[in-house]
Amino acid sequence: MDRTPQRQTGLSRRLTTGVTLAATATIAVIATAYASSVPPRRTGELTFPNPSGAIATVGLDERNAGNPFFQALGTNGRACATCHQPAQAWSITPSELRDRFDRTDGLDPIFRVNDGSNCEGADVSTIRKRRQAFSLLLQKGVIRVGLDVPARAEFEIVAVDDPYRCAAPLTSASMYRRPLPSTNLKFLSGVMWDGRASKPGQAIRDGLINQVVDAVTGHAQGAPPSPAQIQSIVDFELGLFATQVVDRSAGGLAEGIARSGPATLGRELFCLGINDPLDMRPPMPGACGASSGGLDPFVFTLFRGWTDSDVLQRQAIARGEAIFNTRQFVIDNVPGLNGRLEDPVRRPLQNGTCTICHDTPNAGNHSVPMPLNIGVADASRRTTDSPLYTLRRRATGETIQTTDPGRAMVTGKWNDVGKFKGPILRALAARPPYFHDGSAATLAEVIRFYDTRFQARFTEQEKADLLAFLRAL
Ligand code: HEC
Ligand code: HEC
Repeated sequence: MDRTPQRQTGLSRRLTTGVTLAATATIAVIATAYASSVPPRRTGELTFPNPSGAIATVGLDERNAGNPFFQALGTNGRACATCHQPAQAWSITPSELRDRFDRTDGLDPIFRVNDGSNCEGADVSTIRKRRQAFSLLLQKGVIRVGLDVPARAEFEIVAVDDPYRCAAPLTSASMYRRPLPSTNLKFLSGVMWDGRASKPGQAIRDGLINQVVDAVTGHAQGAPPSPAQIQSIVDFELGLFATQVVDRSAGGLAEGIARSGPATLGRELFCLGINDPLDMRPPMPGACGASSGGLDPFVFTLFRGWTDSDVLQRQAIARGEAIFNTRQFVIDNVPGLNGRLEDPVRRPLQNGTCTICHDTPNAGNHSVPMPLNIGVADASRRTTDSPLYTLRRRATGETIQTTDPGRAMVTGKWNDVGKFKGPILRALAARPPYFHDGSAATLAEVIRFYDTRFQARFTEQEKADLLAFLRAL
Protein backbone atom coordinates (compact mmCIF):
# COMPACT_ATOMS: atom_id res chain seq x y z
CA MET A 1 0.00 0.00 0.00
CA ASP A 2 1.37 3.43 -0.83
CA ARG A 3 0.97 6.57 1.18
CA THR A 4 -2.11 8.68 0.69
CA PRO A 5 -1.47 12.26 -0.34
CA GLN A 6 -2.70 13.72 2.98
CA ARG A 7 0.71 14.99 3.92
CA GLN A 8 1.11 16.69 0.56
CA THR A 9 -1.92 18.88 1.10
CA GLY A 10 0.10 20.58 3.80
CA LEU A 11 3.07 20.73 1.49
CA SER A 12 1.02 22.26 -1.32
CA ARG A 13 -0.20 24.92 1.05
CA ARG A 14 3.38 25.73 1.95
CA LEU A 15 4.23 25.82 -1.75
CA THR A 16 1.59 28.38 -2.57
CA THR A 17 2.52 30.65 0.30
CA GLY A 18 6.06 30.48 -1.02
CA VAL A 19 7.72 30.64 2.38
CA THR A 20 11.47 30.38 2.18
CA LEU A 21 12.81 28.80 5.32
CA ALA A 22 16.44 27.89 5.48
CA ALA A 23 17.74 28.42 1.95
CA THR A 24 21.22 29.82 1.74
CA ALA A 25 21.63 33.48 0.89
CA THR A 26 22.66 32.98 -2.74
CA ILE A 27 19.92 30.48 -3.45
CA ALA A 28 17.43 32.83 -1.83
CA VAL A 29 18.60 35.54 -4.23
CA ILE A 30 18.07 33.27 -7.24
CA ALA A 31 14.77 32.08 -5.89
CA THR A 32 13.39 35.56 -5.31
CA ALA A 33 14.77 36.75 -8.62
CA TYR A 34 13.07 33.97 -10.54
CA ALA A 35 10.06 32.86 -8.49
CA SER A 36 8.78 32.25 -5.05
CA SER A 37 10.47 29.04 -4.04
CA VAL A 38 10.16 26.71 -1.14
CA PRO A 39 13.09 25.15 0.67
CA PRO A 40 14.68 22.06 -0.81
CA ARG A 41 12.58 18.92 -0.38
CA ARG A 42 15.80 16.98 -0.32
CA THR A 43 19.36 18.19 -0.12
CA GLY A 44 20.26 19.93 -3.34
CA GLU A 45 16.69 20.21 -4.64
CA LEU A 46 14.95 23.52 -5.24
CA THR A 47 11.18 23.40 -5.51
CA PHE A 48 8.91 25.76 -7.44
CA PRO A 49 5.08 25.74 -7.40
CA ASN A 50 2.96 25.55 -10.55
CA PRO A 51 -0.81 25.19 -11.08
CA SER A 52 -0.53 21.38 -11.12
CA GLY A 53 1.61 21.12 -8.00
CA ALA A 54 5.36 21.72 -8.04
CA ILE A 55 8.55 20.94 -9.91
CA ALA A 56 11.97 20.42 -8.40
CA THR A 57 15.37 21.11 -9.89
CA VAL A 58 18.75 19.65 -8.96
CA GLY A 59 22.06 21.16 -10.05
CA LEU A 60 21.32 24.71 -8.92
CA ASP A 61 23.06 25.50 -5.65
CA GLU A 62 25.33 27.99 -3.94
CA ARG A 63 28.39 26.74 -5.83
CA ASN A 64 26.97 27.79 -9.19
CA ALA A 65 24.67 30.69 -8.27
CA GLY A 66 27.30 33.00 -9.79
CA ASN A 67 27.40 31.03 -13.05
CA PRO A 68 27.56 33.19 -16.21
CA PHE A 69 24.17 31.61 -17.11
CA PHE A 70 22.71 34.23 -14.74
CA GLN A 71 24.85 37.12 -15.99
CA ALA A 72 24.16 39.62 -18.76
CA LEU A 73 26.96 38.62 -21.11
CA GLY A 74 25.91 40.83 -24.02
CA THR A 75 24.83 44.43 -24.49
CA ASN A 76 21.07 44.34 -23.95
CA GLY A 77 20.85 43.23 -20.32
CA ARG A 78 19.74 39.69 -21.10
CA ALA A 79 21.10 36.60 -19.38
CA CYS A 80 20.34 33.00 -20.33
CA ALA A 81 17.97 32.98 -17.35
CA THR A 82 15.97 35.81 -18.92
CA CYS A 83 14.41 33.14 -21.18
CA HIS A 84 15.25 30.01 -19.18
CA GLN A 85 13.67 30.41 -15.75
CA PRO A 86 13.99 27.71 -13.07
CA ALA A 87 10.34 28.01 -11.98
CA GLN A 88 9.05 27.50 -15.53
CA ALA A 89 11.13 24.32 -15.94
CA TRP A 90 13.94 26.44 -17.45
CA SER A 91 11.69 27.84 -20.17
CA ILE A 92 9.18 30.73 -19.96
CA THR A 93 5.38 30.91 -19.81
CA PRO A 94 2.95 33.57 -21.04
CA SER A 95 1.47 34.07 -17.57
CA GLU A 96 4.85 34.77 -15.99
CA LEU A 97 5.75 37.01 -18.95
CA ARG A 98 2.58 39.05 -18.51
CA ASP A 99 3.49 39.52 -14.83
CA ARG A 100 6.96 40.56 -15.87
CA PHE A 101 5.53 43.01 -18.39
CA ASP A 102 3.23 44.57 -15.79
CA ARG A 103 5.95 44.70 -13.16
CA THR A 104 8.39 46.50 -15.46
CA ASP A 105 6.01 48.36 -17.81
CA GLY A 106 7.37 46.13 -20.56
CA LEU A 107 10.99 47.13 -19.99
CA ASP A 108 12.43 43.86 -18.63
CA PRO A 109 15.36 42.79 -20.84
CA ILE A 110 13.28 40.01 -22.39
CA PHE A 111 11.29 42.78 -24.11
CA ARG A 112 13.91 43.65 -26.69
CA VAL A 113 13.22 44.31 -30.36
CA ASN A 114 16.01 42.13 -31.80
CA ASP A 115 13.96 38.95 -31.27
CA GLY A 116 11.41 39.49 -28.48
CA SER A 117 9.01 41.53 -30.61
CA ASN A 118 6.85 40.21 -33.45
CA CYS A 119 8.86 42.36 -35.90
CA GLU A 120 12.54 43.20 -35.65
CA GLY A 121 13.06 46.83 -34.63
CA ALA A 122 9.42 47.41 -33.61
CA ASP A 123 8.26 50.76 -32.24
CA VAL A 124 8.27 50.39 -28.44
CA SER A 125 8.08 54.03 -27.43
CA THR A 126 4.94 53.71 -25.25
CA ILE A 127 3.47 50.97 -23.02
CA ARG A 128 0.60 50.54 -25.44
CA LYS A 129 2.97 50.09 -28.37
CA ARG A 130 5.08 47.68 -26.35
CA ARG A 131 2.06 45.55 -25.50
CA GLN A 132 1.32 45.37 -29.21
CA ALA A 133 4.93 44.84 -30.31
CA PHE A 134 5.39 41.89 -27.93
CA SER A 135 1.93 40.35 -28.38
CA LEU A 136 3.19 36.92 -29.49
CA LEU A 137 5.67 36.73 -26.62
CA LEU A 138 2.95 37.71 -24.13
CA GLN A 139 0.33 35.34 -25.55
CA LYS A 140 2.35 32.29 -26.53
CA GLY A 141 5.78 32.72 -24.92
CA VAL A 142 7.55 32.55 -28.28
CA ILE A 143 10.77 34.24 -29.41
CA ARG A 144 11.37 35.29 -33.02
CA VAL A 145 14.01 33.14 -34.68
CA GLY A 146 15.05 34.88 -37.89
CA LEU A 147 16.96 32.72 -40.37
CA ASP A 148 18.08 33.28 -43.96
CA VAL A 149 17.06 30.79 -46.62
CA PRO A 150 20.25 28.70 -46.93
CA ALA A 151 22.48 29.28 -49.98
CA ARG A 152 21.64 26.81 -52.76
CA ALA A 153 18.39 25.80 -51.05
CA GLU A 154 16.09 23.57 -53.11
CA PHE A 155 13.31 26.09 -52.53
CA GLU A 156 12.60 29.79 -52.40
CA ILE A 157 10.07 31.72 -50.37
CA VAL A 158 7.72 33.26 -52.91
CA ALA A 159 5.19 34.86 -50.56
CA VAL A 160 4.43 35.52 -46.93
CA ASP A 161 1.07 36.36 -45.42
CA ASP A 162 2.37 38.29 -42.42
CA PRO A 163 -0.23 39.56 -39.94
CA TYR A 164 2.36 41.99 -38.54
CA ARG A 165 3.57 43.39 -41.88
CA CYS A 166 7.17 43.27 -40.73
CA ALA A 167 8.31 43.87 -44.31
CA ALA A 168 11.22 41.44 -43.99
CA PRO A 169 12.80 40.32 -47.29
CA LEU A 170 11.71 36.97 -48.76
CA THR A 171 15.30 35.73 -48.46
CA SER A 172 14.64 35.16 -44.75
CA ALA A 173 11.89 33.88 -42.50
CA SER A 174 10.76 34.81 -38.98
CA MET A 175 9.79 31.74 -37.00
CA TYR A 176 8.22 32.14 -33.59
CA ARG A 177 9.43 29.41 -31.27
CA ARG A 178 9.18 28.32 -27.67
CA PRO A 179 12.42 28.36 -25.67
CA LEU A 180 13.29 24.71 -25.12
CA PRO A 181 14.09 23.96 -21.47
CA SER A 182 17.80 24.29 -20.67
CA THR A 183 17.53 21.26 -18.38
CA ASN A 184 17.61 17.45 -18.70
CA LEU A 185 20.06 18.06 -21.59
CA LYS A 186 21.85 14.78 -20.90
CA PHE A 187 19.19 13.11 -23.07
CA LEU A 188 19.39 15.39 -26.13
CA SER A 189 19.96 13.89 -29.57
CA GLY A 190 20.00 17.28 -31.31
CA VAL A 191 20.18 20.88 -30.12
CA MET A 192 17.29 23.28 -30.98
CA TRP A 193 13.86 22.45 -32.45
CA ASP A 194 15.40 22.16 -35.91
CA GLY A 195 18.71 20.72 -34.70
CA ARG A 196 20.59 23.68 -36.15
CA ALA A 197 23.16 23.96 -33.35
CA SER A 198 24.23 20.32 -33.87
CA LYS A 199 26.68 19.77 -36.71
CA PRO A 200 26.91 16.33 -38.35
CA GLY A 201 29.26 14.00 -36.49
CA GLN A 202 29.72 16.35 -33.54
CA ALA A 203 28.99 15.43 -29.93
CA ILE A 204 25.92 16.96 -28.25
CA ARG A 205 28.26 18.90 -25.98
CA ASP A 206 29.74 20.60 -29.07
CA GLY A 207 26.22 21.51 -30.16
CA LEU A 208 25.61 23.06 -26.74
CA ILE A 209 28.83 25.06 -27.12
CA ASN A 210 27.66 26.37 -30.53
CA GLN A 211 24.34 27.21 -28.93
CA VAL A 212 25.93 29.31 -26.15
CA VAL A 213 27.91 31.37 -28.68
CA ASP A 214 24.79 31.91 -30.82
CA ALA A 215 22.70 32.85 -27.77
CA VAL A 216 25.19 35.45 -26.51
CA THR A 217 25.81 37.00 -29.94
CA GLY A 218 22.14 36.71 -30.99
CA HIS A 219 19.68 36.92 -28.09
CA ALA A 220 22.05 39.01 -25.92
CA GLN A 221 23.64 41.01 -28.79
CA GLY A 222 27.14 40.60 -27.38
CA ALA A 223 30.63 39.62 -28.43
CA PRO A 224 31.34 35.87 -28.35
CA PRO A 225 31.84 34.69 -24.74
CA SER A 226 35.21 33.44 -23.51
CA PRO A 227 36.02 29.72 -23.65
CA ALA A 228 35.92 29.65 -19.83
CA GLN A 229 32.44 31.21 -19.77
CA ILE A 230 31.21 28.78 -22.42
CA GLN A 231 32.56 25.76 -20.52
CA SER A 232 31.03 26.83 -17.24
CA ILE A 233 27.61 27.49 -18.82
CA VAL A 234 27.59 24.12 -20.59
CA ASP A 235 28.78 22.26 -17.47
CA PHE A 236 26.10 24.03 -15.44
CA GLU A 237 23.21 23.30 -17.80
CA LEU A 238 24.26 19.67 -18.28
CA GLY A 239 24.04 19.27 -14.49
CA LEU A 240 20.45 20.54 -14.30
CA PHE A 241 17.58 18.08 -13.98
CA ALA A 242 13.96 19.04 -13.42
CA THR A 243 10.71 17.09 -13.07
CA GLN A 244 7.31 17.54 -11.53
CA VAL A 245 7.51 16.29 -7.92
CA VAL A 246 4.10 17.15 -6.48
CA ASP A 247 0.74 16.70 -8.16
CA ARG A 248 -2.17 18.60 -6.64
CA SER A 249 -4.46 15.58 -6.66
CA ALA A 250 -2.04 12.64 -6.53
CA GLY A 251 0.45 14.00 -4.01
CA GLY A 252 4.20 13.31 -4.00
CA LEU A 253 5.46 11.88 -7.30
CA ALA A 254 8.94 11.01 -6.14
CA GLU A 255 8.21 9.09 -3.00
CA GLY A 256 7.61 5.49 -2.07
CA ILE A 257 7.26 3.33 -5.16
CA ALA A 258 6.89 6.23 -7.61
CA ARG A 259 10.17 6.76 -9.41
CA SER A 260 9.92 10.38 -10.49
CA GLY A 261 12.08 13.25 -9.26
CA PRO A 262 15.06 15.11 -10.76
CA ALA A 263 17.78 13.16 -8.96
CA THR A 264 16.35 9.84 -10.20
CA LEU A 265 16.14 11.25 -13.73
CA GLY A 266 19.78 12.36 -13.51
CA ARG A 267 20.81 8.74 -12.87
CA GLU A 268 18.87 7.37 -15.84
CA LEU A 269 21.16 5.67 -18.37
CA PHE A 270 21.36 7.17 -21.83
CA CYS A 271 23.24 6.75 -25.09
CA LEU A 272 22.21 8.07 -28.51
CA GLY A 273 19.94 5.54 -30.16
CA ILE A 274 18.89 3.88 -26.92
CA ASN A 275 15.63 1.97 -27.26
CA ASP A 276 15.20 3.13 -30.86
CA PRO A 277 12.52 1.13 -32.72
CA LEU A 278 14.57 1.23 -35.96
CA ASP A 279 17.79 0.41 -34.07
CA MET A 280 19.53 3.44 -35.55
CA ARG A 281 22.86 4.25 -34.00
CA PRO A 282 23.83 7.75 -35.13
CA PRO A 283 27.45 8.16 -36.30
CA MET A 284 28.46 10.57 -33.55
CA PRO A 285 30.16 10.48 -30.14
CA GLY A 286 27.84 9.22 -27.42
CA ALA A 287 26.02 6.69 -29.60
CA CYS A 288 25.12 3.34 -28.08
CA GLY A 289 27.77 0.73 -28.73
CA ALA A 290 25.64 -2.34 -29.04
CA SER A 291 22.34 -2.88 -30.79
CA SER A 292 19.41 -1.64 -28.77
CA GLY A 293 17.49 -4.71 -29.86
CA GLY A 294 14.60 -2.54 -31.01
CA LEU A 295 11.96 -0.77 -28.98
CA ASP A 296 11.00 -1.79 -25.48
CA PRO A 297 7.66 0.01 -25.54
CA PHE A 298 7.75 0.57 -21.79
CA VAL A 299 9.54 3.88 -22.17
CA PHE A 300 8.15 5.38 -18.97
CA THR A 301 8.38 3.21 -15.87
CA LEU A 302 7.87 5.85 -13.20
CA PHE A 303 4.39 5.07 -11.98
CA ARG A 304 3.74 1.40 -12.73
CA GLY A 305 3.80 0.73 -8.98
CA TRP A 306 0.62 2.81 -8.69
CA THR A 307 -1.54 0.50 -10.79
CA ASP A 308 -3.22 -0.84 -7.65
CA SER A 309 -2.88 2.29 -5.53
CA ASP A 310 -5.76 3.07 -3.22
CA VAL A 311 -5.56 6.70 -4.37
CA LEU A 312 -7.73 7.07 -7.49
CA GLN A 313 -5.63 9.82 -9.07
CA ARG A 314 -2.51 7.66 -8.71
CA GLN A 315 -4.26 4.85 -10.55
CA ALA A 316 -5.15 7.31 -13.32
CA ILE A 317 -1.50 8.35 -13.67
CA ALA A 318 -0.42 4.70 -13.87
CA ARG A 319 -3.07 4.00 -16.52
CA GLY A 320 -1.96 7.10 -18.45
CA GLU A 321 1.63 5.87 -18.40
CA ALA A 322 0.52 2.51 -19.82
CA ILE A 323 -1.50 4.28 -22.54
CA PHE A 324 1.52 6.37 -23.50
CA ASN A 325 3.68 3.24 -23.68
CA THR A 326 1.39 0.78 -25.40
CA ARG A 327 -1.92 2.20 -26.71
CA GLN A 328 -1.81 1.57 -30.46
CA PHE A 329 -2.86 3.81 -33.36
CA VAL A 330 -1.80 4.03 -36.99
CA ILE A 331 1.17 6.28 -37.70
CA ASP A 332 1.13 7.28 -41.35
CA ASN A 333 2.35 10.06 -43.59
CA VAL A 334 5.02 11.42 -41.22
CA PRO A 335 7.83 12.81 -43.41
CA GLY A 336 11.14 11.74 -41.88
CA LEU A 337 9.61 8.43 -40.74
CA ASN A 338 7.22 7.08 -43.34
CA GLY A 339 5.81 10.00 -45.28
CA ARG A 340 8.02 9.81 -48.37
CA LEU A 341 9.92 7.40 -50.58
CA GLU A 342 13.31 8.13 -49.01
CA ASP A 343 12.04 7.61 -45.45
CA PRO A 344 13.23 4.59 -43.43
CA VAL A 345 9.79 3.01 -43.07
CA ARG A 346 7.87 2.17 -46.23
CA ARG A 347 4.34 1.71 -44.99
CA PRO A 348 1.94 2.90 -42.32
CA LEU A 349 2.85 1.67 -38.84
CA GLN A 350 -0.29 -0.20 -37.83
CA ASN A 351 0.83 -0.68 -34.24
CA GLY A 352 2.19 2.80 -33.64
CA THR A 353 2.43 4.20 -30.11
CA CYS A 354 3.52 7.51 -28.57
CA THR A 355 6.79 5.74 -27.79
CA ILE A 356 7.67 5.08 -31.45
CA CYS A 357 8.91 8.68 -31.48
CA HIS A 358 9.22 9.45 -27.77
CA ASP A 359 11.54 6.51 -27.12
CA THR A 360 14.17 7.68 -24.59
CA PRO A 361 13.57 5.87 -21.28
CA ASN A 362 11.92 8.16 -18.73
CA ALA A 363 12.94 11.33 -20.61
CA GLY A 364 10.58 10.90 -23.54
CA ASN A 365 12.48 12.60 -26.36
CA HIS A 366 13.53 10.93 -29.62
CA SER A 367 16.83 9.17 -28.86
CA VAL A 368 18.12 9.70 -32.43
CA PRO A 369 18.53 12.92 -34.41
CA MET A 370 15.54 12.41 -36.72
CA PRO A 371 13.48 15.52 -37.43
CA LEU A 372 9.86 14.62 -38.23
CA ASN A 373 6.92 16.44 -39.73
CA ILE A 374 3.89 15.52 -37.64
CA GLY A 375 1.93 18.45 -39.06
CA VAL A 376 2.13 21.10 -36.34
CA ALA A 377 3.27 23.76 -38.88
CA ASP A 378 0.73 22.73 -41.56
CA ALA A 379 -1.19 25.51 -43.25
CA SER A 380 -4.39 23.79 -42.11
CA ARG A 381 -3.55 24.55 -38.45
CA ARG A 382 -2.55 28.15 -39.05
CA THR A 383 -4.10 30.69 -36.71
CA THR A 384 -4.44 34.37 -37.62
CA ASP A 385 -1.62 35.40 -35.30
CA SER A 386 1.10 33.55 -37.21
CA PRO A 387 2.64 34.23 -40.61
CA LEU A 388 2.06 31.81 -43.47
CA TYR A 389 4.93 31.19 -45.86
CA THR A 390 4.57 29.94 -49.42
CA LEU A 391 7.61 27.96 -50.54
CA ARG A 392 8.31 26.94 -54.13
CA ARG A 393 10.50 24.01 -55.06
CA ARG A 394 12.93 25.28 -57.66
CA ALA A 395 13.24 22.01 -59.59
CA THR A 396 9.55 21.32 -60.09
CA GLY A 397 7.69 24.54 -59.34
CA GLU A 398 5.42 22.80 -56.80
CA THR A 399 4.47 24.92 -53.81
CA ILE A 400 3.69 24.31 -50.16
CA GLN A 401 2.41 26.58 -47.39
CA THR A 402 3.68 26.40 -43.84
CA THR A 403 3.87 28.55 -40.72
CA ASP A 404 7.46 27.39 -40.09
CA PRO A 405 9.71 25.62 -42.62
CA GLY A 406 11.56 24.00 -39.68
CA ARG A 407 14.58 21.85 -40.54
CA ALA A 408 14.44 23.01 -44.20
CA MET A 409 15.80 26.44 -43.15
CA VAL A 410 18.93 24.61 -41.93
CA THR A 411 19.50 22.08 -44.74
CA GLY A 412 17.81 23.85 -47.66
CA LYS A 413 16.08 20.54 -48.46
CA TRP A 414 12.52 20.54 -49.75
CA ASN A 415 11.78 17.29 -47.97
CA ASP A 416 12.73 18.84 -44.63
CA VAL A 417 9.92 21.40 -44.65
CA GLY A 418 7.93 21.30 -41.40
CA LYS A 419 10.27 18.89 -39.60
CA PHE A 420 11.10 19.28 -35.90
CA LYS A 421 12.71 17.12 -33.25
CA GLY A 422 10.75 15.05 -30.75
CA PRO A 423 11.47 17.02 -27.55
CA ILE A 424 12.04 15.92 -23.95
CA LEU A 425 8.76 15.40 -22.12
CA ARG A 426 9.57 16.21 -18.49
CA ALA A 427 8.30 19.00 -16.21
CA LEU A 428 5.60 19.72 -18.79
CA ALA A 429 3.08 21.11 -16.30
CA ALA A 430 5.43 23.97 -15.43
CA ARG A 431 5.83 25.25 -18.97
CA PRO A 432 2.75 25.65 -21.16
CA PRO A 433 2.11 26.20 -24.05
CA TYR A 434 3.39 23.26 -26.09
CA PHE A 435 4.90 22.41 -29.50
CA HIS A 436 7.58 24.51 -31.20
CA ASP A 437 5.14 27.36 -31.82
CA GLY A 438 3.20 27.20 -28.55
CA SER A 439 0.09 26.31 -30.54
CA ALA A 440 -1.27 23.90 -27.92
CA ALA A 441 -2.23 26.03 -24.92
CA THR A 442 -2.70 23.03 -22.63
CA LEU A 443 -1.72 19.37 -22.42
CA ALA A 444 -5.36 18.52 -23.14
CA GLU A 445 -4.92 20.31 -26.48
CA VAL A 446 -1.78 18.29 -27.19
CA ILE A 447 -3.81 15.11 -26.68
CA ARG A 448 -6.57 16.46 -28.93
CA PHE A 449 -3.95 17.18 -31.61
CA TYR A 450 -2.75 13.56 -31.59
CA ASP A 451 -6.28 12.20 -31.41
CA THR A 452 -7.18 14.08 -34.60
CA ARG A 453 -3.87 13.84 -36.46
CA PHE A 454 -3.53 10.08 -36.05
CA GLN A 455 -7.20 9.25 -35.61
CA ALA A 456 -6.34 7.48 -32.39
CA ARG A 457 -9.97 7.60 -31.19
CA PHE A 458 -9.03 7.88 -27.54
CA THR A 459 -11.98 7.39 -25.19
CA GLU A 460 -12.73 10.20 -22.72
CA GLN A 461 -11.28 7.98 -19.99
CA GLU A 462 -8.07 7.43 -21.99
CA LYS A 463 -7.72 11.17 -22.60
CA ALA A 464 -8.19 11.92 -18.90
CA ASP A 465 -5.64 9.27 -17.89
CA LEU A 466 -3.09 10.42 -20.48
CA LEU A 467 -3.54 13.98 -19.23
CA ALA A 468 -3.01 12.93 -15.61
CA PHE A 469 0.19 11.17 -16.68
CA LEU A 470 1.62 14.02 -18.80
CA ARG A 471 0.95 16.46 -15.95
CA ALA A 472 2.88 14.23 -13.56
CA LEU A 473 6.06 14.14 -15.64
C1 HEC B 1 15.64 35.78 -25.75
C2 HEC B 1 15.39 34.48 -25.17
C3 HEC B 1 16.55 33.53 -25.00
C4 HEC B 1 17.76 33.76 -24.38
C5 HEC B 1 18.28 35.05 -23.77
C6 HEC B 1 18.45 32.49 -24.38
N1 HEC B 1 17.67 31.53 -24.97
FE1 HEC B 1 18.08 29.57 -25.09
N2 HEC B 1 16.50 29.28 -26.31
C7 HEC B 1 15.59 30.25 -26.66
C8 HEC B 1 14.73 29.74 -27.72
C9 HEC B 1 13.59 30.50 -28.39
C10 HEC B 1 15.17 28.43 -28.00
C11 HEC B 1 14.60 27.49 -29.08
C12 HEC B 1 15.01 28.03 -30.45
C13 HEC B 1 14.88 27.04 -31.57
O1 HEC B 1 14.93 25.84 -31.32
O2 HEC B 1 14.76 27.45 -32.73
C14 HEC B 1 16.28 28.17 -27.09
C15 HEC B 1 16.96 26.97 -27.01
C16 HEC B 1 17.96 26.70 -26.11
C17 HEC B 1 18.59 25.41 -25.93
C18 HEC B 1 18.26 24.13 -26.70
C19 HEC B 1 17.67 23.04 -25.85
C20 HEC B 1 17.26 21.85 -26.70
O3 HEC B 1 16.46 21.03 -26.22
O4 HEC B 1 17.70 21.74 -27.84
C21 HEC B 1 19.53 25.56 -24.96
C22 HEC B 1 20.47 24.49 -24.41
C23 HEC B 1 19.52 26.94 -24.54
N3 HEC B 1 18.54 27.59 -25.26
C24 HEC B 1 20.39 27.50 -23.63
C25 HEC B 1 20.59 28.88 -23.53
C26 HEC B 1 21.76 29.48 -22.92
C27 HEC B 1 22.90 28.73 -22.30
C28 HEC B 1 21.59 30.84 -23.03
C29 HEC B 1 22.55 31.93 -22.58
C30 HEC B 1 23.87 31.90 -23.16
C31 HEC B 1 20.31 31.07 -23.67
N4 HEC B 1 19.75 29.85 -23.99
C32 HEC B 1 19.73 32.31 -23.87
C33 HEC B 1 15.49 31.51 -26.09
C34 HEC B 1 16.53 32.14 -25.39
C1 HEC C 1 5.41 10.26 -35.26
C2 HEC C 1 6.17 10.71 -34.11
C3 HEC C 1 5.43 11.10 -32.86
C4 HEC C 1 4.43 10.42 -32.20
C5 HEC C 1 3.79 9.10 -32.60
C6 HEC C 1 4.10 11.20 -31.04
N1 HEC C 1 4.86 12.33 -30.99
FE1 HEC C 1 4.73 13.79 -29.59
N2 HEC C 1 6.08 14.92 -30.64
C7 HEC C 1 6.69 14.54 -31.81
C8 HEC C 1 7.36 15.68 -32.40
C9 HEC C 1 8.18 15.67 -33.69
C10 HEC C 1 7.11 16.77 -31.55
C11 HEC C 1 7.50 18.24 -31.78
C12 HEC C 1 6.49 18.78 -32.78
C13 HEC C 1 6.50 20.28 -32.96
O1 HEC C 1 6.63 21.03 -32.00
O2 HEC C 1 6.32 20.70 -34.12
C14 HEC C 1 6.29 16.25 -30.44
C15 HEC C 1 5.87 17.02 -29.34
C16 HEC C 1 5.13 16.52 -28.27
C17 HEC C 1 4.78 17.28 -27.09
C18 HEC C 1 5.13 18.74 -26.82
C19 HEC C 1 6.34 18.88 -25.95
C20 HEC C 1 6.80 20.32 -25.76
O3 HEC C 1 7.81 20.52 -25.08
O4 HEC C 1 6.17 21.25 -26.29
C21 HEC C 1 4.06 16.43 -26.28
C22 HEC C 1 3.49 16.77 -24.90
C23 HEC C 1 3.94 15.17 -26.96
N3 HEC C 1 4.61 15.25 -28.16
C24 HEC C 1 3.24 14.06 -26.48
C25 HEC C 1 2.91 12.95 -27.28
C26 HEC C 1 1.91 11.97 -26.94
C27 HEC C 1 1.09 11.97 -25.68
C28 HEC C 1 1.87 11.07 -27.97
C29 HEC C 1 0.94 9.87 -28.16
C30 HEC C 1 -0.47 10.16 -28.12
C31 HEC C 1 2.84 11.50 -28.95
N4 HEC C 1 3.45 12.65 -28.50
C32 HEC C 1 3.11 10.85 -30.13
C33 HEC C 1 6.64 13.27 -32.38
C34 HEC C 1 5.70 12.31 -32.08
